[in-house]
Amino acid sequence: MPKIVIYSFLLFFLFVSCKKQPQAPAYQSVQSMVVDSAAVVSPHPLASEIGIEILRKGGNAVDAAVAVQFALAVVYPRAGNIGGGGFMVIRDQDGSTTSLDYREKAPQSAHRNLYLDSLENVIKGLSTEGVLAAGVPGTVAGLLDAHQKHGKLKDVAALIEPAILLAKNGFKISEAEARRLNRFQDAFRKHNNTPNPFIKDTFIIGDLLVQEELAHTLNLIKEKGKAGFYEGVVADAIVAEMKNSNGIISKSDLQKYETQWRTPISVDYKNYRIFSMPPPSSGGLALGQLLKIVEGFPISDYGFHSQEAIHLMVEAERRVYADRATYLGDPDFYTVPVDSLLSSDYLTESMSTYTPEQASVSDSIDTGSLLIKESFETTHTSIVDSDGNAVSVTTTLNSNYGCKVWVDGAGFFLNNEMDDFSVKPGIPNQFGLVGAEANAIQAEKRMLSSMTPTIIEKDGELFMVLGAPGGSTIITAVFQVFLNVAEFGMPLDKAVTAPRFHHQWLPDEIIIEKGGIPESTQQQLLEMGHNIRAIERMAVIKAIQRLPDGSLHGAGDFRNPDDDVSGW
Ligand code: DON
Repeated sequence: MPKIVIYSFLLFFLFVSCKKQPQAPAYQSVQSMVVDSAAVVSPHPLASEIGIEILRKGGNAVDAAVAVQFALAVVYPRAGNIGGGGFMVIRDQDGSTTSLDYREKAPQSAHRNLYLDSLENVIKGLSTEGVLAAGVPGTVAGLLDAHQKHGKLKDVAALIEPAILLAKNGFKISEAEARRLNRFQDAFRKHNNTPNPFIKDTFIIGDLLVQEELAHTLNLIKEKGKAGFYEGVVADAIVAEMKNSNGIISKSDLQKYETQWRTPISVDYKNYRIFSMPPPSSGGLALGQLLKIVEGFPISDYGFHSQEAIHLMVEAERRVYADRATYLGDPDFYTVPVDSLLSSDYLTESMSTYTPEQASVSDSIDTGSLLIKESFETTHTSIVDSDGNAVSVTTTLNSNYGCKVWVDGAGFFLNNEMDDFSVKPGIPNQFGLVGAEANAIQAEKRMLSSMTPTIIEKDGELFMVLGAPGGSTIITAVFQVFLNVAEFGMPLDKAVTAPRFHHQWLPDEIIIEKGGIPESTQQQLLEMGHNIRAIERMAVIKAIQRLPDGSLHGAGDFRNPDDDVSGW
């Protein structure tokens, strides 16, 4: 046979085998690990590794958190972001705590009827897809402010450069990312008129994702700080996207964006002290209320996943989520009665209708169904450095890839966080959450969140750092994982992987993870009058526990196969 024919055959087989054989990415996730000194748990191994590198170079937990967030904007595009917002809770080694609010804000021309038609009906999809769904992004301001006030490494460039390299040179995507990218192709094509790195017939594991425009934007942030994002060509590109469609974010909105340092919610539970995010997140307050309620009951005697424990926790959740819908919103616009909601008198009164035998009935007005259409995407990172500084940070675009609009010329997805407002009183958002006046849309207001970045002390010492993505189920997941460790004696990895349940007042049902609660317990709960619905999975916890000998147990969650613990 002539050589040319043999070579052609060889080349053909090489081509076919290369095409069909997915190339595994050159990284692997470790989901549970005990280390001596320092740990980072994030939703992506490449981001965790960058966090650890920063710690090794002498950075503290805040420096590492900033570098991890910039890296996640590259390697975890479905939720990692510079086009969204987030919350960071910090506990210094000396025990002092603070929190940074870099939540998105409603643009100045937003108003309460933004997503309603002339008959005041909600226009479907307007607050979830397309540029009108986007709030003014806060992430870049947040990361730079966090670094400036609490970072140890002087030069912020060192925290952005690893992300720039990943964007410029590309990285191999994981199977989970490929699957997600394929799922959203129609939405990407619908909302983007020009080609971008996320539009492609089929993604497979190991595909190299190069994001040159994002690298350029990150470089501008590195060189010019906030002005590199909120002014100049990046601001122009964001505003151009608004003009292409029906968006309302203006240059002045971008220029005016500011973060807020806030005092964390602090609640005592037995010999633990919980620090978590205050409004405009509902997370810390709701978690505090839940813990204060169950503190008075012998929950460990009831036992893990016993009918008594589930019933008690669900009844507490029913009441706390009703409070959330009524009283919680942006504290800069609405007086949130934080102290009253956490007071023993109020919580005792709230539980006065509780009986151990029977389910209460949620007010049935305007019930929405908890539409878990998409899997949960937001990012959480927990970090403890070798000096004992801790950071718990949750950031989000809201849905996967936010509003699906990729800013042409600047290289990132914009959030769809406006859907976290109550677009009309009593009408559920994508998580089935209802709200009213406290969370109505107003110019420059921040939308209520469920993100619950949390740091816990035991007997005055650092004990646990945790948080999660998962929309409305974040709060109840943090609640359960903590109780799994503190009351049910589980090691952290088991506490994280244990099946979860959730109630949010409306709709009046317990959602459970499929196969997660024994049939007999479900039967008992049904007989008590509860409604139960099974879904695939809920919030995805990333946690670190400081063990009695001072070592750190980091745990990611199988619910996101890319969750990764790194450390030493
Ligand atoms: O702030 C919030 O509560 C939501 N935007 C978080 C979204 C989230 O966790 C995504 N998961 N579905």
